[in-house]
Amino acid sequence: MITIEPQAVILAAGKGTRMRSDRPKVLQPVLGTPLLGHVLRAVEATGADPITIVVGHKAAEVEQAFSDRRVSFRRQDPPKGTGHALQTAQDVFSRHPEQTLLVVYGDTPLLRGQTLVRLLEAHGNSRAAATLLTVRLDDAGAYGRVLRDANGNVRRIVEAKDATLEERAVKEINAGIYAFHVPSLLPVLSELKPQNAQGEYYLTDVIGLLVAGGQIVSAMTVNDPQEVVGVNTFEELALVNQGLRERVLVSLMQSGARIEDPATTHIGLEVVLEHDVVVRPFTMLEGKTTVRSGASVGPFSRVVDSEIGPGANVLDHCFLNNCVVEAGASIGPFAHLRPETRIGRNARVGNFVELKKTVLGEGSKAPHLSYLGDATIGPSVNVGAGTITCNYDGKTKHATRIESGAFIGSNSTLVAPVTVGEGAYVGAGSVVTEDVPADALALGRARQVVKPEWARKKQRPEPTTAGERQK
Ligand code: UD1
Ligand code: MG
Repeated sequence: MITIEPQAVILAAGKGTRMRSDRPKVLQPVLGTPLLGHVLRAVEATGADPITIVVGHKAAEVEQAFSDRRVSFRRQDPPKGTGHALQTAQDVFSRHPEQTLLVVYGDTPLLRGQTLVRLLEAHGNSRAAATLLTVRLDDAGAYGRVLRDANGNVRRIVEAKDATLEERAVKEINAGIYAFHVPSLLPVLSELKPQNAQGEYYLTDVIGLLVAGGQIVSAMTVNDPQEVVGVNTFEELALVNQGLRERVLVSLMQSGARIEDPATTHIGLEVVLEHDVVVRPFTMLEGKTTVRSGASVGPFSRVVDSEIGPGANVLDHCFLNNCVVEAGASIGPFAHLRPETRIGRNARVGNFVELKKTVLGEGSKAPHLSYLGDATIGPSVNVGAGTITCNYDGKTKHATRIESGAFIGSNSTLVAPVTVGEGAYVGAGSVVTEDVPADALALGRARQVVKPEWARKKQRPEPTTAGERQK
């Protein structure tokens, strides 16, 4: 039982040298959310308060990315190791010595909030000065090894770079996640020395110091090694991305979405799929996207920050960004719906059609090869193939209005601002520059001229005689 809520420090000041990237490591994205965002979410799930984030490398950028969260920052400049990082936040956590201190590294995005809650419970139930999270790995790689004594009690942690061959063979590793009893931690934290291969103040050394001082250190081992993967390289970033992607897909399938090919489907953490949604292969659903029951998306489509209504179909090769598709509508194949577009109930958008900031009314159709931008289109309108709204005069955008039941003939050019009234017709191939009243027919094209026999004469001119020439 946790009696008093914990406080937390997240260490996120490291450079991420092994990535060779200009972007700070903790801002590298996993399923579209920065590494640190995943860690913060897990920490928030414990109810920890206050939460302090230690930043250093590109501190302002990291602070900016989390400026809307209930956290405070401490700057570690320059970063001199994980122990030094925790010292940087000491003024905050030493003010609340009665609150258990949760310390988490900012580069472990697959960590579950529930696991942190269990760690805090285990710590609360023991009389330990520190409880650390460990996992057994067949290949312990560069992780710190957890060394135990003959009775199985934790003795200390040794970093891979400082370990002997025998120590490197140990398979139990330090996850970089700890619960501390603050009054026990404070004295040993100030004793750290940078006497190791990397010349850093290692937080891991406090474990050995606590044990040497006669304190109890316990460990909680987790079974899912993925949970504690620390991301140091782009290979590891890809690995955790894959792990989280699978977690999301499994939970969506368990709640009733039919994902035809999980291996080629990418779905973000915040996406909501109602029951009986079908997601076809090679589809990406990102951001705050919701797909309502019975709708289908894909194959090869990408939907970002959009809502797809019940029973709607987004067919092959479509890109939708920040738009709404209402119930029963059909989109694509090969359609591009740009921000602030709304497709009405049972409306149809066909191939090679682009819409921007446009409302297409209930039951209306734009089946082929059109650009509709800044347009408000009423219900039951037919937009013929090749229709273009000329919404831009080089300086400003202008609006087009097409009212209920209007019929726009193929290959029409609607020069905005312009309105086509209710039930009106626009003849194919027209350039419409003036408003068309309701029920009228507008023709804005040259009248056809037919020259009989013209072509035949051009190809086979008749022999001319002197007499004919005189005629
Ligand atoms: C660390 C642990 C190692 C553990 C592994 C788990 C130490 C000394 N080693 O190694 O035992 O197995 O994590 O993933 O703690 N950071 C700072 N300031 C610094 C240095 C680092 O805030 O001066 C932050 C980093 O941004 C990162 C975290 O601390 O989020 C861990 O640092 P990192 O350099 O990744 O340590 P590892 O070598 O992975
Ligand atoms: Mg690391």
